[in-house]
Amino acid sequence: MSSSPRKILVTAALPYANGEIHLGHVLEYVQADIWTRFQKMRGHECRYFCADDTHGTPIMISARAQNISPEELIKGAYERHSADLADFQVEFDNFYSTHSPENKVFSEEFFLKMKKKNHIVLKTIKQAYCEHDKMFLPDRFVKGTCPKCGAEEQYGDSCDVCAATYAPGDLKDPHCSICKNPPTTRDSEHIFFKLNDYKDFLKDWLPGHTQKEINNKMLEWFGEDLRDWDISRDDPYFGFEIPGHPGKYFYVWVDAPIGYISSTKNWCDRNGRDYKEFWSNPEAEIHHFIGKDIIYFHTLFWPAMLKAAEYNLPTKVNVHGFVKINGEKMSKSKGTFINARTYLKHVDPMYLRYYYASKLSNRVDDIDLNISDFISRVNSELIGKITNLASRGAQMLNKKLDGTTSTLDDLGQEKVKWAQSKSEVIAEHFENLEYSKAIIEIRDIAEGANKYFDEHEPWKLIKTDPIKTKQILTTIINMFRIMAIYLKPVMPEYSKNVEALLNEKTPFTWNSAQEVLENRAINAYTHLATRLEQKQFDTMIQEELSKSSKA
Ligand code: MSP
Ligand code: ZN
Repeated sequence: MSSSPRKILVTAALPYANGEIHLGHVLEYVQADIWTRFQKMRGHECRYFCADDTHGTPIMISARAQNISPEELIKGAYERHSADLADFQVEFDNFYSTHSPENKVFSEEFFLKMKKKNHIVLKTIKQAYCEHDKMFLPDRFVKGTCPKCGAEEQYGDSCDVCAATYAPGDLKDPHCSICKNPPTTRDSEHIFFKLNDYKDFLKDWLPGHTQKEINNKMLEWFGEDLRDWDISRDDPYFGFEIPGHPGKYFYVWVDAPIGYISSTKNWCDRNGRDYKEFWSNPEAEIHHFIGKDIIYFHTLFWPAMLKAAEYNLPTKVNVHGFVKINGEKMSKSKGTFINARTYLKHVDPMYLRYYYASKLSNRVDDIDLNISDFISRVNSELIGKITNLASRGAQMLNKKLDGTTSTLDDLGQEKVKWAQSKSEVIAEHFENLEYSKAIIEIRDIAEGANKYFDEHEPWKLIKTDPIKTKQILTTIINMFRIMAIYLKPVMPEYSKNVEALLNEKTPFTWNSAQEVLENRAINAYTHLATRLEQKQFDTMIQEELSKSSKA
């Protein structure tokens, strides 16, 4: 382990305030949470910042449809999002909002710096306009018949049926998705960021700052000039007005990533710290966690914006794939578009954290949440192999002996040393986001411990040799303790219960695995985990299905 503590900032993509947190989002927040908790256990300063992404047309429109103000809409979302993520044991240092005073100030600062450096250009564009709703319509708000295959009610940018892409003007019978009237076309002056000014910079910067597969994909864009990026939207728009341009607002994707900095600053101000420690300090690291659908924003626009505004660039943009359920895209009509809250009503969140960890690598592959595999892995590994060691070992020690561990015998020392010796390999896997490999190593310890337990048959030995039995149970309890330490980033609540069971004086850190528990009284075993049943998932899916049939 490196001796001087690192200063690390972690972010996960900001969830849109107009949707609920679902099991796809949970993958990302848990992936970043595991990494943050791991770094904290290693003694580094690691801070995890996030916020709700609150601006844009869809939020404005859905507030109108509910007859509430956008402010009210985002307030409700904020409360639900915070609670959902906290209940999944995702522990942010700060979960903030992009609709905040800090974010307005930073957005203006970024824009003015971009302008000062001559990266801004004005151009007049033609855009669909609804005379009835008195607003410009983003592509997604114009619907009509696909010009290619004739499918009805398709979006203005692409057809869901034949996958053709086109401009809203190409649709047959185009209409406003809000009021159904046909749109007109109007001219409007928009503000553009000249991304191409950063082409050479980005081309050099990209390699080494994201996974190879993402890097290769992004470099395909560099064959030609990078197109100017439209960063403005016309009134009415829920967002921040652009300084010096009345009636023009920052496009939501401008102020959203700036929200990472605002969330940091808000936390720093409340904790007597300076946000520049993280954003302008060459010693600090910035690690973004995002899904594969938003790489363009995080590997091109965002680094260029940071460069223009003279802030630190990301150390790493970590991209993950999409969650599928039983091998298919999450789907409302199949009841597999599972909201975080629905899941929480039926199944303990630690199991999903364990399952996701057991599937995650640092590649961008999609993650299949296969429900029967989920149930069997939790029941056979986490309960059958790992937790059973504690329940059998601790209960025997408490009920048949005096509840106090002894010293380890020679073989016990050997076993414990072996489990301890995996510390750095497992740490490296966590560090490299190879969680599935970390879980394999932990499972290997569990297998070793179960074999040892079965070979020594303490349940028989206790009748003739209580001293030897105690030594065997001490070995088992130590091996279990080490696993609970290695699993702590993944299952923090579980490990906390283990700390209580084993009478730990202080919470586990990564180095706790190098200590040996001897001659210590442990507490009565209380339940650590319950077997999963298929019917819990059936009810969960049924609940989602009934929601989608009502909608
Ligand atoms: N608001 C933007 C992000 C702005 S970041 C400055 C956004 N929001 S989102 O709510 O749509 O998605 C938030 C994160 O969840 C994204 O990283 C996205 O890739 C991820 N996921 C959304 N659905 C997902 C799955 N089905 N599976 C895995 N991750 C998914 O994008
Ligand atoms: Zn309309």
